Amino acid sequence: MDVVLNSLSGEAAARSMEVLAPGGRFVELGKVDLYANRRVILRPLAANASFHAVDLVSLLRDDFAGSVSALRTVAHRVRQGQYRPLLHQVYPVQRVDEAFRLLQHSRHIGKVVISLDGPVPVRMNPVLPSIAPDEQYLVIGGLSGLGARVALHLAKRGTRHLALAGRRGMETPGAADLVARLTTLGASVTVDAVDVTDAVAVEQLIRKIDTAEHPLREVIHSVLHLEDDELTRLSDERMRAVLAPKIAGAVLLDRLTRQRNIRLTSYSSMNAWVGSGHQTSYAAANLFLEALARHRRRHGNDALTIAWGTISEAGYVAREGLTETLGQLGMITPDEACAAQDRHHARHTDVVAIGRYDLAHLSAFCPSLATPRFSLIAPSTISGTDYRLTDL
Ligand SMILES: NC(=O)c1ccc[n+]([C@@H]2O[C@H](COP(=O)([O-])OP(=O)(O)OC[C@H]3O[C@@H](n4cnc5c(N)ncnc54)[C@H](OP(=O)(O)O)[C@@H]3O)[C@@H](O)[C@H]2O)c1
Repeated sequence: MDVVLNSLSGEAAARSMEVLAPGGRFVELGKVDLYANRRVILRPLAANASFHAVDLVSLLRDDFAGSVSALRTVAHRVRQGQYRPLLHQVYPVQRVDEAFRLLQHSRHIGKVVISLDGPVPVRMNPVLPSIAPDEQYLVIGGLSGLGARVALHLAKRGTRHLALAGRRGMETPGAADLVARLTTLGASVTVDAVDVTDAVAVEQLIRKIDTAEHPLREVIHSVLHLEDDELTRLSDERMRAVLAPKIAGAVLLDRLTRQRNIRLTSYSSMNAWVGSGHQTSYAAANLFLEALARHRRRHGNDALTIAWGTISEAGYVAREGLTETLGQLGMITPDEACAAQDRHHARHTDVVAIGRYDLAHLSAFCPSLATPRFSLIAPSTISGTDYRLTDL
């Protein structure tokens, strides 16, 4: 090496000195060895090599004009392309936290540069989306699980007109209790037995609830049907059963709400991001919902799709008694989910994944976590329990 720019100390510095070519220069940028007054092994300098210590602070203090002039020369040569930048990765300043995380986990090569080029978006503390008490909120899948918890959350926040739908309507276990609680919170509630894939029924429902007095403000699409199995064992029918309520349902809801300033909020799953051999149709359906939200937003229509991590207390996992097993990988409560949903409505997000994960544990099941798309949340070496509540 003709030049070693060194900022290592101790043994590592000594080893770096040994790689100098005859006549080479060892430029010490680090302070530790200098201020600790450590010894330098001189043998590697024997072949006409030299050792330079550079301390920018004292340079600027002792020879300010000279330093400025040297810096100008360097800048000029950089502009002319005479000096090329070292290997580096540029982060816009609004992603400075990611840059620090990269450094923290030593996942960078070369320099990490924070760029002030381009507009810096100002992110204000999100103001919760306002609830217009006169407006109507429709929750499909709102009679159980997460949908029911979102309905309660909306009522607590002041929603006065709630329409809940699912195939079983009032026959859904717990429906009567739910309606009673919502009514106590001051909401007037309608319940309909509607299959979200039935275009006529859904159109009729929306026509019924979307009135001049109580216009429809938001549709929350919280439906789920699972047929977990290996891909080769799935029949068309079983795949359709999983895909239809999510995809056909969302297409229908999109058509009926587009251009009307009605928000469409759909629920995907983290499974669509990490993959799962037994839930291929479910992952495909969820990815469709994410694409739909992006498409709607691009065309000026309000939409949010959230890929949830495992949810405790309510919904499929809690009902099927899977909380203990899946809980070891990390879960969020329905209250946390509702609060996060509000935050992302306020930020006008199109797609977000929200969950709490023990990455070390999860990576044992999901090799995809080691792929570059997860590099910002899942360091390449994960050890120990590392739960994170993450909005991606
Ligand atoms: N629970 C979790 O940990 C978790 C994790 C990730 C994502 N999610 C997502 O969160 C959403 C809610 O999940 P959940 O666990 O709360 O499920 P859930 O308790 O099983 O609720 C799903 C609801 O969807 C309704 N539904 C199913 N098919 C329908 C159809 N064709 N038409 C109308 N309604 C239909 C069901 O009612 P009927 O059977 O009466 O129709 C039920 O009320 C889903 O989109 C799911 O993918 C949940």
